[in-house]
Amino acid sequence: MALSSDEAVEQVFALLDASRERGYFGEQVTQLEHALQAAQLAQETGAGDVVVAAALLHDVGHLCTKQSTEHEQHGANYLRRLGFPESVALLVASHVDAKRYLTAVHPDYAGRLSAASQESLRQQGGPMTLEDSLRFRTEPGFEDKLRLRAWDEQAKQPGLETPPLESYRPLLLRVLNSA
Ligand SMILES: [Fe+2]
Repeated sequence: MALSSDEAVEQVFALLDASRERGYFGEQVTQLEHALQAAQLAQETGAGDVVVAAALLHDVGHLCTKQSTEHEQHGANYLRRLGFPESVALLVASHVDAKRYLTAVHPDYAGRLSAASQESLRQQGGPMTLEDSLRFRTEPGFEDKLRLRAWDEQAKQPGLETPPLESYRPLLLRVLNSA
């Protein structure tokens, strides 16, 4: 039976809340801080509900499974099962490809990535081929995928104050109820 929107938010909040002590892969923030900083960056640029939700939830794949590879696909599938719309799942599923795209088309982009992010890029297949990057550029949500990627890179600031997880409940409910 499908979850209600309230139950879906409870589940995803429980996962994120449990990550408040969990480090974020060699960075100076926890998983929860990383998620909250990404969501705040999205809100500060006036992004819509779907994009803010994707920013908050983009790394949920690291929390909903113990498998270390393809976290973006696990996260997207988890969010689909909870009832999130495809628009959110697609953004979440693409945040690794956005990095592979940017490192392919902007050779200096890889040099600006943190050491941990450069290492994960290598494990994720490295920069896209020219053919793949041309295709990626024409896919739906291209601009939002790149924006999410930029926030992902920036959301690693130790000690930054952000609104709490709970403040996103109404937004997530709107997104779930629109699906
Ligand atoms: Fe991230």
